[in-house]
Amino acid sequence: MSSIEALKKEIVETVQAANDMQSLEDVRIQALGKKGKVTDLMKSLGGMDPDQRREMGQALNRLKDEITTEIEARAAALKRKEMEERLAGEKLDMTLSTRPEQQGSIHPISQTIEEMIAIFATMGFTLAEGPEIEDDFHNFTALNFPPEHPARQMHDTFYLPNDPNGKGEEATRLLRTHTSTVQIHVMQEQKPPIRVITLGRTFRSDYDMTHTPMFHQVEGLVIDKTTHMGHLKHCLSTFCKKFFGVSDLPVRFRPSYFPFTEPSAEMDIGCAVNDGKLEIGAGQNWMEILGCGMVHPNVLKNCGIDPEEYQGFAFGMGIERVAMLKYGIPDLRTFFESDIRWLRHYGFGPAEQPNTALRSE
Ligand code: PHE
Repeated sequence: MSSIEALKKEIVETVQAANDMQSLEDVRIQALGKKGKVTDLMKSLGGMDPDQRREMGQALNRLKDEITTEIEARAAALKRKEMEERLAGEKLDMTLSTRPEQQGSIHPISQTIEEMIAIFATMGFTLAEGPEIEDDFHNFTALNFPPEHPARQMHDTFYLPNDPNGKGEEATRLLRTHTSTVQIHVMQEQKPPIRVITLGRTFRSDYDMTHTPMFHQVEGLVIDKTTHMGHLKHCLSTFCKKFFGVSDLPVRFRPSYFPFTEPSAEMDIGCAVNDGKLEIGAGQNWMEILGCGMVHPNVLKNCGIDPEEYQGFAFGMGIERVAMLKYGIPDLRTFFESDIRWLRHYGFGPAEQPNTALRSE
């Protein structure tokens, strides 16, 4: 008996000394595991006479229970300790004051992008993305720009060194000059019906009051079996009314030319100049804001879509330009100068909602 008492004392001491869950588990295996000390004693029962076996058997079972209880108690204590240490380490002082003054602001471009996404989302458009570094095929050829066409020069393209692994027009790398490239990616990857917008950076080598070498565009593409110019007009005039918050905004479409749309148009919105201030809405003047048209059959063909079965419209708009009109920002270049005073003045608070409410006159 006394040997059992001694074994119990020895095991309980090692249980108490275990300082983490892993060493506690090691102790358990040494005592109660297949080759553990208690298990060894259990195995010796077979060689004993019946009385001795009964007595010894009961004592060993008690010992097993006692050790198990000890181990469970130790495990609970270790877990509690671990939790207390974690809580102490992750403590936050809730009484600390917040910063007195808001430091950052949302850039007007980011705000305008959020507003555009919110409006087009209500019309069922989803978001598409494409790369800023493009090849000649996606920026020009697939969009029906003939080789040597002057429009290629009109875009003042930034060319990059050729891609050594590319072939032909896919080797010519450039910074995309418009987001129409994403039309091609989408039509190559998705089957109609298609209804997407994409918003992002575009690049042209140009710099003055109304041009910066990097600017943003939003592009829309709708392809279906019966989509027509009436859908285009309704979609874009609804967008402009919501975006500028003027429910009776006059709009007009003028014939224009883009290689990738036929017919092509430019859209103007009504505006007035009062006391030197520009106001969007009914007035004596028109302001051009976007290019659009019915997707050219060649573009559909270039992307593997049958123009006999499908047709659709596309549009592209400069984001800075409409942000300038909406928020009264006079000079495009200031968008990218990171002047902290400009950002404080024209920036938006982080909690502000996209401003898409209609202003009723
Ligand atoms: N990609 C044209 C531009 O940058 C705009 C446009 C897009 C026109 C889609 C028609 C259709 O000027």
